Amino acid sequence: MEITIRAVAANEFLSLHKLNSRWMGIALNEQADAILALQFRVLVENFRDSCFVTEVEGKVIGLLIGFAAQADEETCYIHALAIAPEYRRCGIGRMLVNTFCNNMVRRGRKSVSLVTWPENPGSRSFYDAAGFRPVVSGKPIRIHGIEASRDYYGKGRHMVVYTKKL
Ligand SMILES: CC(C)(COP(=O)(O)OP(=O)(O)OC[C@H]1O[C@@H](n2cnc3c(N)ncnc32)[C@H](O)[C@@H]1OP(=O)(O)O)[C@@H](O)C(=O)NCCC(=O)NCCS
Repeated sequence: MEITIRAVAANEFLSLHKLNSRWMGIALNEQADAILALQFRVLVENFRDSCFVTEVEGKVIGLLIGFAAQADEETCYIHALAIAPEYRRCGIGRMLVNTFCNNMVRRGRKSVSLVTWPENPGSRSFYDAAGFRPVVSGKPIRIHGIEASRDYYGKGRHMVVYTKKL
């Protein structure tokens, strides 16, 4: 199986948003779908040289949406990472994260961060294996044996913040 990797094109935002929602397993109502599509459009159009897809025989099977931070010139952020279920545990997530991190090192970035859900043990294991470490932003809350950041996205929306030195 030959896997290729490339930066995304601006006109891919909608198909990538749909793949991301499907691979994340999230069912969206019309309003939430529109908001996330808008978010993907803004990110892909403005940061497409740091957003990557993997392909097999021309078919997209993995995506990473990330960008260099503007407020802090030393950091960068991974907004979305998702792999087609049938291609998981083949090293594709690792390939995308490494490609993004190498790209950011070339831009002088010294650390990378992201957030995930406490209830997503697969992604937590993935980021642990990739050398990320959880940090608490604001007040802590212990969920599923891990220190999460309390109310990170608003009341009751606790998240795990991960960071890694590049
Ligand atoms: C999390 C995700 C991106 C991982 O991608 P992947 O391509 O399957 O990961 P890799 O094959 O590169 O895994 C690298 C290592 O991470 C760890 N890992 C990855 N997925 C794991 C899982 N589900 N359970 C335990 N460990 C896991 C393993 O150590 C793995 O190495 P190994 O397969 O040699 O044991 C993928 O499962 C996914 O798309 N999940 C749904 C979307 C999601 O949760 N995204 C993250 C949201 S922030």
